[in-house]
Amino acid sequence: MSGLFITFEGPEGAGKSTNLRYLADCLRAAGCDPLLTREPGGTPIAEQIRTLLLANHSEQMNSDAELLLMFAARAQHLNQVIRPALAQGRVVISDRFTDATYAYQGGGRGIDMQRIAALETWVQGDLRPDLTLLFDVPVEVGLARAKARSALDRFEQEERAFFDAVRTTYLARAADAPGRYRVIDGSASIEGVQAELQPAINWILERWHA
Ligand SMILES: Nc1ncnc2c1ncn2[C@@H]1O[C@H](COP(=O)(O)OP(=O)(O)OP(=O)(O)O)[C@@H](O)[C@H]1O
Ligand SMILES: [Mg+2]
Repeated sequence: MSGLFITFEGPEGAGKSTNLRYLADCLRAAGCDPLLTREPGGTPIAEQIRTLLLANHSEQMNSDAELLLMFAARAQHLNQVIRPALAQGRVVISDRFTDATYAYQGGGRGIDMQRIAALETWVQGDLRPDLTLLFDVPVEVGLARAKARSALDRFEQEERAFFDAVRTTYLARAADAPGRYRVIDGSASIEGVQAELQPAINWILERWHA
């Protein structure tokens, strides 16, 4: 028995967490009980790594250190939470996963994508999401929402060029593998975004019942 692995991606303020709650409500209404989790994080150890990654430090964090911490957290999360839940046949929904590493550490920081791919294979083997919902918003829109919500974390304080590269990388990955991604216009109204999610909800429920 193997479950379904769904990931939510997109920049800060794109609506990932808001719509993850909505998707989970829709699935529960249909009798499906998804496991909701997030990256970096999802286990006590991985959440400690998250705190380290998002905090503002007096010392600059080296890009390779940042990349390796992301995958350290992911190894913990995959083995403690994601793989066991999938083995039980559950629908697992993660707020961010490895596409975010390509977008932020690859696109944003400029780390060679091949290095990220090597770590992906090391940590994940052949496990990849079954479906990735990419919430796309203009950089200004996402940042304005994030700023209105809370103080900015270490990533949210980056420059404009960083966020442009994050967005471009996400969209390029989605264009390269259209079978796995659904690109959602995150700048639409909340009701508009929910309507756009309906085909993905149906897709999940069809496979979950199968
Ligand atoms: N379609 C929308 N229209 C207007 N506001 C929205 C919309 N979607 C979400 N918001 C608001 O924008 C803010 C950010 O949304 P949310 O937390 O879901 O984004 P996120 O992608 O999870 O961001 P982060 O990566 O920073 O966690 C929230 O205050 C949310 O209520
Ligand atoms: Mg969020």
